[in-house]
Amino acid sequence: MAKKIIPALDFKGDWNYSPAPEDTKHINLQKQYELFIDGKFVKPAKGKYFDTINPATEQVIAKVAEADDSDVNKAVKAAKTAYDKVWSKMPAKEKGKYIYRIARMIQERAREFSVIETLDGGKPIRESRDVDVPLAANHFFYYAGWADKLEYATPNRVSKPYGVAAQIIPWNFPLLMAAWKIAPALATGNTVVLKPAETTPLTALKLAEIIQESGLPPGVVNIITGAGKTGAALVNHPDVSKIAFTGSTDVGKLIQKSIAGTGKKATLELGGKAANIIFEDAPINQAVEGIVNGIFFNQGHVCCAGSRLFVQESVADIVIKKLKDRLETLIVGDPLDKNTDIGAINSKEQLNTINKYIKIGKDEGAEFYQSSCNIPSKGYFCRPTLFINASQSHRIVQEEIFGPVLTIQTFRTVEEVIEKANNIPYGLSAGVWTDKGSKIFNLTTKLRAGVVWANTYNKFDPTSPFGGYKESGFGREGGMHGLMGYLKF
Ligand code: NAI
Ligand code: MG
Repeated sequence: MAKKIIPALDFKGDWNYSPAPEDTKHINLQKQYELFIDGKFVKPAKGKYFDTINPATEQVIAKVAEADDSDVNKAVKAAKTAYDKVWSKMPAKEKGKYIYRIARMIQERAREFSVIETLDGGKPIRESRDVDVPLAANHFFYYAGWADKLEYATPNRVSKPYGVAAQIIPWNFPLLMAAWKIAPALATGNTVVLKPAETTPLTALKLAEIIQESGLPPGVVNIITGAGKTGAALVNHPDVSKIAFTGSTDVGKLIQKSIAGTGKKATLELGGKAANIIFEDAPINQAVEGIVNGIFFNQGHVCCAGSRLFVQESVADIVIKKLKDRLETLIVGDPLDKNTDIGAINSKEQLNTINKYIKIGKDEGAEFYQSSCNIPSKGYFCRPTLFINASQSHRIVQEEIFGPVLTIQTFRTVEEVIEKANNIPYGLSAGVWTDKGSKIFNLTTKLRAGVVWANTYNKFDPTSPFGGYKESGFGREGGMHGLMGYLKF
C-alpha cells in the first residue's frame, strides 16, 4: 500500500483563529476608587488620585485614591483596633467561616474578577480565568481550613499572631498575591493592611467589596492604594508587627534596612532567574512546551519564570529548532481574546526595561531571535524573544528581565549545569527535564532554589510552600509553611 503523505504544517496559514474576545459588559467598574479602611470606602485625606490604565489599549480605566501618611496611619489604627477588640477574641472556628465565605464569593464572581484582572494588568484572559482567579479562591479555601487547627501545625508549641500585618504586593499576579497574603494572615489571627501595586489595583479593590459584603468585622482587612511612598509609610508604621512583601529585590533590601532593629518580622519574596534544564534523555516535545510555559506565561512577568534555558549539547539543535517553530505559533495580542497566548506588558516602564535588556543582549553578542508575529500598534507589547549562545557572564543571564525574553546556554555534564545554574544571585525556582528519576533527585538536592519542578513548570497549589534562597528572599508562602510567617512562639 502506498504511504499516505502528510503535508508539513504551514504555521502561518493553518493556525489562524477567528477572534474570540471575552465580553466586558457584565463588569461593574466605578470611575473612581476610594481607600478601604475600617470596613468603609473613604476618600484620601489629601484628595489625591492616580490613573490606572489598560496596558493593551493605553486607556484610563479608573481613578484610584493615593494614600498618604495620615491615610496609612488611619488604616493601621483600624487594623490594630480590630485586632485588639474583635479578631484576637473571636473563636478560631468563626474566623475560619469568614475566610471560607470570601473564597465562595470569589468563585461566584470569578468571571468578573478574571476580566478586570486582564483589563487592568494585560495578562491573557485564559490565564486570569484558569489560573489566577481559581487559585486565589483555593488559597482562601485552604487557609480557612487551618484557622481552627493551628495547634496541629505547631504541635507542643503555643503560637500567637503578630497583630497587624502590612502586606505589599506586585503587579504580576494582583488578586492571587492578595490571596497568598490575606488568607494565611487571617487564618493565623492577624489583621491586615494590604497595598496593591499602582498599575494593578482594581482586583484588590473588588476584593475589598467582597470583604465588605462578607460581613468580616470592620478593620480586619484594610486595602489602601498608592505607590512606593505609600508602601514605605506602611512598612515604617510603628504599630505594624509583621511585613509580607513580594516585589523587586531592590525594594526588598530597602525594607530590610528600614526595619533593622525594630523587631518587626518580615517575609520577602523577591526576584528570580530560574534555570530550566533540558537533558538529552528528556521527552523533547513536552520539554519544548515546558520551556514555552516557563518563560512566556504571563508575558514572563513571573518571579519564578524559567528565564535561563540550559540544553544538553547533543540535543541543542533540535530543541532550538522546535522552540523557534513553536514561537511562530504563539499568538501575541488582545489579552481579552481567548486565543491569546501572550498579552500586554504590564506598563510602559516595564516595556522600557525589557527593551533596554534586549539592547544589552544584542550588544553583549548573544544571537538574537524573535517570532515574526505582528503586534498591535497601540498598547505595550513585546514579541517572544530568544538569546541563543548566551554566556554566564552576560547581564541578560545574570539579571532579572521580567519579560518574554529567554536566554539559551548549552552544557555537557551534570556537574557543569549545576555549577552554572547556581552561579547567580537568585534562587527561587528551577526546572529539570529528564527521563531519569535519579537525575531528578540528584538535581533537586543540589540546585539552590526554593522550588524545583521536574518534567513540568509553573505548577502552583495552595498546599505547596513557595519561596527563595539568596537574593530571592526568605520565608515561605503556601502550605503549612505559609502559616509560620504569621505566628510567633
Ligand atoms: P517594586 O518592587 O517597586 O514594586 C512592588 C511593590 O512594592 C509595589 O506595590 C510598589 O508600590 C511597592 N513599593 C515600591 N517601593 C516601595 C518602598 N520603598 N517601600 C515599600 N513598598 C514599595 O517593583 P517594580 O518597580 O514595579 O518592578 C521593577 C522590577 O522588579 C521588575 O522589572 C521585576 O524585575 C521586579 N519585580 C519582581 C516581582 C516578583 O514577583 N518577584 C514583582 C514585581 C517586580
Ligand atoms: Mg492598570
